[in-house]
Formats: sequence, structure tokens, C-alpha cells
Amino acid sequence: MSEMRDLIATLPTQLRWAADLDRPRVPPAKSAVVAGMGGSGIAGDVAAVVAESESTRVTVHKSYGLPSWVRDELVVAVSHSGNTEETLSGARAAVAAGIPWVAVATGGRLLEDADASGAARVDIPFSPQPRAAFGYLAGGVLRVLEASGVVGDQTGALREAADVVEGALAGPAHEAASEIADRLAGRVAVVYGGSGVGAVAANRWKTQINENGKTPAYWSALPELDHNEIVGWSAHPELGRESIGVVFLHDAGDHPRIALRARLTRELITPTTTVAADVSSLGVGVLARLFSLTIVGDLVSVGLAERAGIDPAPVAVIEDLKKRLATQPGGST
Ligand code: F6R
Repeated sequence: MSEMRDLIATLPTQLRWAADLDRPRVPPAKSAVVAGMGGSGIAGDVAAVVAESESTRVTVHKSYGLPSWVRDELVVAVSHSGNTEETLSGARAAVAAGIPWVAVATGGRLLEDADASGAARVDIPFSPQPRAAFGYLAGGVLRVLEASGVVGDQTGALREAADVVEGALAGPAHEAASEIADRLAGRVAVVYGGSGVGAVAANRWKTQINENGKTPAYWSALPELDHNEIVGWSAHPELGRESIGVVFLHDAGDHPRIALRARLTRELITPTTTVAADVSSLGVGVLARLFSLTIVGDLVSVGLAERAGIDPAPVAVIEDLKKRLATQPGGST
């Protein structure tokens, strides 16, 4: 049993922490840009899906600086460490342009910059790894967006998500994840989801399999993959059957034609690849459905690490790369 497995099981506690968080005092806005990378940046992807479901707009920025068009948006800079150079550069671009911004972090220079520039900050409880703080980070960002008026009250949705994930962790998610990890072990995972909830969940599956399972993994979204990627299974069927495992994520919110496409796509690629699993979301709200899919992927990723006999937690190459970057000119940290 790995530490990461225990951390993953704290997701309901994290979501309830966010539901109970005092509403942060942040400037009002109609739309927002969330700047963040990796296990922190995906909090922005979650927020974008929630905003879309409420007919508002959150744009996720995963690079240096800010998009050139940002003027009236609230900038939310999210970084677990508070020291990620791309995210710091986005926050500093906001300061330089006089654009209101908010920091969501456990510490680091991001919170120092927030204090120095008079920006609001949400302090996130520390986790041994950013990707294990998914509920804190996504919940913290959502509460900021709620406080600014970009999205509505998230407390009920966060509580529903916590309850649904808790129910899944009581048994079904572990059983499903164990079977899927058995089928994916030694293979490259390819995760397919529909646009919205399914796409964000597929991205989280991919990154968790990369970072916890230390294995290549890829994701794509329907319907776009039906216009290109579906063709890519034909020339080397032995590669698809022996070395790759495809997982389909299904969501009740999928457009009916996307649900149909998932079924037909599965049928068409089955002869030339190994379809490892179908996983369907649970719950009613966007957050419950999203986290009910990601919790299975999180457990699959640690299951893959355990089957490979490795510790899922360390991400030495990311740390090494960050250190190398820090010694070079031009880093904002
Ligand atoms: C590590 C992880 C990474 C980091 C990323 C950004 O667990 O998931 O993807 O999240 O390198 O760092 P932070 O989150 O500190 O801004």
C-alpha cells in the first residue's frame, strides 16, 4: 500500500474543505483566466467545465505570461508550490498590466507576490505532491470564481462530489481500478472522453498514469478523434492489440451523438486494438460526475505503479528539470 494510495483517498476530505472554505474576498468579474501548470493547472480545466455548464467563460492558460487579449478578466494563478515559473510569470504579467488577480497556493513566491501587490490569496493545505491536492486546488479555484461572480455557489456541488467519491472509494472504484490496472499493465494507455467532463477526466487519467504509473499515456476527445485518430489503428493491428489499452470514459452529460460515437468508435477499433475498459460517471452535478471518473483513474495509476514495483509518488525528472531551468538565465523564480 503506497502513500499515494492513501493520499488519493483524501479527495472527499479535500472537497469538503473547499465547500467549508470562507468565501474569499476577490474583485467581481464576468469571466476569468486560470493560469497554472500540471497538477495545479488541471484545477483550471475543472473550473472551465463548471463555467461552461453555467454559460460563463473560464479560459485556462498553461504557459508563460497571459493571453494577449486579457483585460477585464479576473486572473487566478494556481500553483501548489507557489514557485512554478510559468504561473509566476502569469501573475507578474497581471501585476504589470494592472489586471486584478488572485493567488491559490500552499506558499512560495506566488503568495509573497500576492501580498506585495495587494492581491487576494487562498492558502491551500499542503500535500506531499501537487497532483494529490486535486480537490483542494480545484475547490479553491472554484470558490474564488464563485466569490467573483464568474460561477454560482459551488458548496452543494462540492459536497455532492465528496459524497459520490466517498461512495466510490467504499468499494466500487477500487474493484474497477484493479481490473483496469490488470488489463493496462505493461501497455500504453490511451484514454478517450467526450468533450467537457469526459475530456478533462481523460486528461487527468493520462497525467496520473504518467506521473504515478511512470508510463506513457495519451488522451483524446470525441467527437474530434473520429476525424483523425480513429484511422490510426489500422496499419499496425499487432501494436494496438499487444502494446496499447484504450479506456473509454462516458458521462451522462455527453451529447447524445457523442454517446453514439463512443459506441460506434469502440466497435470499429475493437478488431485492431485492446479496449481495456469503459468507465461511466456517477452523480448529478458536473463536479460529482467529473471526480467520479478521475478517482478511478487515480486508483488505476497507483495500481500500475504497484504492479511495476515502483513508488508512485516521486517525480524526480520534473524536479530535475525545474532545477536545471533555475540555473539558466530568464527564469522568473
Ligand atoms: C507533481 C505534479 C506536477 C506539478 C507541476 C506544477 O505532483 O503533479 O504536474 O503540479 O509541475 O507545479 P505546482 O503544482 O507546484 O505549480
